[in-house]
Amino acid sequence: MIITLLSNINYSDFKMANYLIKDIINDNYLNEEVILKGWVYRIRGSNKRIFLLLRDPSNIIQCVIEKESDESLYKLAKKITIESSIEISGVVKKDERSPIGYELHIKKLKIIGLAEPFPITKDQSIEYLLDKRHLWLRSRKLISIMKIRSTVLQSAREWFNKNGFIEVSTPMIITAACEGGATLFNLNYFNHKAYLTQSSQLYLEALIYSLGRVYVIAPSFRAEKSRTVRHLTEFWHLEAEQPFCDNEQNMKYQEELIEYIIKSVREINKNELKILNRDKLPEIKKPFPRIKYDEAIETLQKKGVNIMWGNDLGTEEEKILTLNNRLPIFIYNYPKKVKGFYHKPDDNNPEVVNCADLLAPEGHGEIIGGGQRIHDKELLIKRIKEENLDINEYEWYIDLRKYGTVPHSGFGLGVERVIKWICGLDHIRDAIPFPRTINRVYP
Ligand code: 4AD
Ligand code: MG
Repeated sequence: MIITLLSNINYSDFKMANYLIKDIINDNYLNEEVILKGWVYRIRGSNKRIFLLLRDPSNIIQCVIEKESDESLYKLAKKITIESSIEISGVVKKDERSPIGYELHIKKLKIIGLAEPFPITKDQSIEYLLDKRHLWLRSRKLISIMKIRSTVLQSAREWFNKNGFIEVSTPMIITAACEGGATLFNLNYFNHKAYLTQSSQLYLEALIYSLGRVYVIAPSFRAEKSRTVRHLTEFWHLEAEQPFCDNEQNMKYQEELIEYIIKSVREINKNELKILNRDKLPEIKKPFPRIKYDEAIETLQKKGVNIMWGNDLGTEEEKILTLNNRLPIFIYNYPKKVKGFYHKPDDNNPEVVNCADLLAPEGHGEIIGGGQRIHDKELLIKRIKEENLDINEYEWYIDLRKYGTVPHSGFGLGVERVIKWICGLDHIRDAIPFPRTINRVYP
């Protein structure tokens, strides 16, 4: 319900201008009257004046209403509740104590939507806040993260476009699994068996034959039964695929992309990083260290970790390998057995594949998985059979090796994993507005 409470002011030209707080906190607007629209973040008052923090998408500004100068305005302001939407007109003043350096002396006020008592207050449980996620998204922390998220996506697109990659779209409803059966979400597709996609890779592989270097930013779905701080059941996947490209060149693309994303966030999101206590996010410069899987296992064993050659690296192992790093590291040449059927075996040792995972520093771990694909038809068929996959579902994928096959490579970057690292988050759920995990699909 929208409640409009008008004071006895003439609003004829009141709705015209559309400033954001960020536009008016400079000396050009000093002593000027401006109009702002937004939501009430905090209210504090005495019997002389009311202080109201106004939040809009760009910032938060303190606004003052003096009883002495306008009693009816003061009375109207008294009715305002937290998170009410308002339109105000006021004069910009300097305020040395304010973090933004300015405040607003309100002349006119209009309440657009008077809020009921806001259910989010201090010291509430994580579960409660997740139930109220649709409202919790108004918090400073989440606003900052979502702005950084936007920069991550924007800058990634920029980098791809600058480097001759074409953006494509791929299906989310599929029949041929990319990353094994264990984490597939089943779908009843008009009485046919189908799944939600785990990765767009196989479709990107089809598109390189017509478009060359391609990329996609789309959701991927994994029925992850594990409750970890880095797994979502629905995540945004930024995937790229390049023809005539080996694993080494594939890693070079990843380094450049990551360097570009971090540079952009450091430039564009200084304020947000500060709010998140992450102003120390270091500059990231290529090349990133490359460590062979064998060597990673030895390092872990020396540190007393109970792991054997052939085991996959999990959250804990990756944490140990990256805790004290400043740069991301590549771990390459994993055993064939722990990677997808499509990976190209190494020419010198067919037990390992030409792949690499990129692990973020400070304990965050894997943010990218990628590698060179099998481009030989017979070998691909052999691997599909070895993994007990239904060969019929992969007919189209095998076709790609029949008509002008080429060595090719690609990678998949977990958008929320990268944001978790950049923002220094403890848990991946805060990297996406409405997280989906094993026990949450609401709101
Ligand atoms: O390592 P993954 O499984 O690799 C693939 O899916 C390849 N087909 C990608 C490719 O080569 N085109 O997943 C890639 C990345 C991981 O490194 C991780 O960052 C992210 O996707 N990821 C997840 N992020 C959040 N929640 C999950 N459950 C994730 N599973 C993978
Ligand atoms: Mg992986």
